[in-house]
Amino acid sequence: MRLSQLTLTDFRSYAHAQLQLQPGPNVLLGFNGVGKTNIAEAIGYLSTLSSHRVSQDGPLVRHGEKQAIIRADAHRGSRQALLEVEINPGRSNRARINRGNPVRATDVLGILRTVLFAPEDLELIKSGPTLRRRLFDDLAVQLRPALGRVRLDYEKVLKQRNALLKSIRHEGFTSTHEATLAVWDHQLSEAGSQLLKARLEMLTALRPHVATAYEQLSGSVRTARVQYMSSLEEDLPQDSPFEAGAGVPGDASRPDVSALESLTRHELAGLMLQRLQSSRRAERDRAMTLVGPHRDDVNFSLDQVPVKGFASHGETWSFALALRLGAYRVMVDDDPEEGARPVLILDDVFAELDARRRRRLAELAAEAEQLIVTAAVDDDVPEALLGNALRVESVDQISQVSAHEQP
Ligand SMILES: Nc1ncnc2c1ncn2[C@@H]1O[C@H](COP(=O)(O)OP(=O)(O)O)[C@@H](O)[C@H]1O
Ligand SMILES: [Mg+2]
Repeated sequence: MRLSQLTLTDFRSYAHAQLQLQPGPNVLLGFNGVGKTNIAEAIGYLSTLSSHRVSQDGPLVRHGEKQAIIRADAHRGSRQALLEVEINPGRSNRARINRGNPVRATDVLGILRTVLFAPEDLELIKSGPTLRRRLFDDLAVQLRPALGRVRLDYEKVLKQRNALLKSIRHEGFTSTHEATLAVWDHQLSEAGSQLLKARLEMLTALRPHVATAYEQLSGSVRTARVQYMSSLEEDLPQDSPFEAGAGVPGDASRPDVSALESLTRHELAGLMLQRLQSSRRAERDRAMTLVGPHRDDVNFSLDQVPVKGFASHGETWSFALALRLGAYRVMVDDDPEEGARPVLILDDVFAELDARRRRRLAELAAEAEQLIVTAAVDDDVPEALLGNALRVESVDQISQVSAHEQP
């Protein structure tokens, strides 16, 4: 998969920018703050409709403007589509495909596949569980765009159920409340089990690839492990370790493969329903939903030792990078056809890596049909990738440079 022409209108710092991207490596060079990550972010957005830096669309639109447009020619083998997404904060986003009539933005999901790695990804390891859950959900939605709807449904039902639990706390518990809760229990476990099943499938697919990528990147003999920690498996839960943001010190004695991974979607729904019902008391006390994929986490470890809190800076980088490279390979497995490999985007990564990791990453990245790399100076970028270097000089000047020109 690759992009050729990319055009930005009022996206971040760009009033208007046009870039010609080549197959193979494309390196965006330029001083900090000049707008390199903005370009990487735009490409990611066209693929996933979300930014790796912000959770709201507002900051993506150039200051003072109302709408941003990202447009690109996407190629998959010999097929080509002109994709255009309009970002309208506060109103619904729209898309156009091949200059057709405007459609829902979500209609572009699944057309362009990308994997983006950026320094922000260190937070996957360091921060609370939200980003880890999102990693798996985003990957699942990229592979199966219909899950995007399920995810929204789940969030909607969860909100309503939590609101009900809060009003129960104020008003006291009545049989009407129980009847309404029972309805929400069903809806929540229907959507929740689909989401959970998808996450577990991603996890099963990702696990061996993360281990391999970690080994290749770091040359370490320690095994990178990924374990799902589900609120369905817990004995519920006065103060479960699944508190948002609390962080889970891994339980390395658990087997990597969760028992849940072998259950069908239907069985997961049944289990979730049962858990919801048996945790009524605790949920009423806490006035919140304590069971479901929104309470789960994923534990990363190296052999028996959790990465979070224990790993060195370099190990943490390698692990985060291995997660993204693993995701890349899951996508390749999902659609092995020639020309279907995702576009790989590496934002400001090489400067952070030691020489060995840098070389290894360059070798792994060479697998991609198209690679977008950003860096402040070309010294940071492995020589082999410098063929197509684009110098980002200012927001309205992006020029092609020869491989070894100094900034
Ligand atoms: N919505 C926006 N409107 C105008 N400028 C923006 C907007 N969002 C970010 N910027 C500007 O973009 C620049 C950062 O660009 P970025 O791509 O992150 O730089 P880098 O080249 O270091 O990766 C900053 O100068 C920032 O002020
Ligand atoms: Mg940057």
